[in-house]
Amino acid sequence: MSDARTKLIRQLQGAYSGELAAAFAYRGHWRSVRDAAERARIAEIEADEWHHRELVAGLLRDLGGKPNRSRDAIFWCIGRTLGALCHISGWFVPMYGAGKLERGNIVEYEEAAVFARDCGHPEMIDCLLTMAEVEWEHERYFRERIIGHKLLRLFPLWDAAPPKTTIRG
Ligand SMILES: [Fe+2]
Ligand SMILES: [Fe+2]
Repeated sequence: MSDARTKLIRQLQGAYSGELAAAFAYRGHWRSVRDAAERARIAEIEADEWHHRELVAGLLRDLGGKPNRSRDAIFWCIGRTLGALCHISGWFVPMYGAGKLERGNIVEYEEAAVFARDCGHPEMIDCLLTMAEVEWEHERYFRERIIGHKLLRLFPLWDAAPPKTTIRG
């Protein structure tokens, strides 16, 4: 039981810092694209990631854990760097990279939900799976942007996420 709690705290510390990097990367990303609809949607995704970070902070607090400050500093640098790179890397690469990372984020929150169940925190499951569902929407958005792009010959498309309804399964 305590092992699942340790795993959950570690998973949430990772997610907490990952959300920071994602939010800054998306800030650079939406500012770098020209299309108004893309700017709006990616800015909305940035806001989702800040919200996730707050939710994760709350879960960590409830577990008596806290963010890993050195990890957070590293991910701050990663996010800022990725955000800056969006301005020089062209349209495709940030869209592709974002979708691929979002695919991992879905799994990260699904795993966290399993750890929450295993360590006696069923009240956290809904919050974690709701975040997984939002990451699912993010992944789908970026996938739809790049489908049919000629650079997919060089960058193979990642495996599609299973249907959204399977998250609750
Ligand atoms: Fe997120
Ligand atoms: Fe996301």
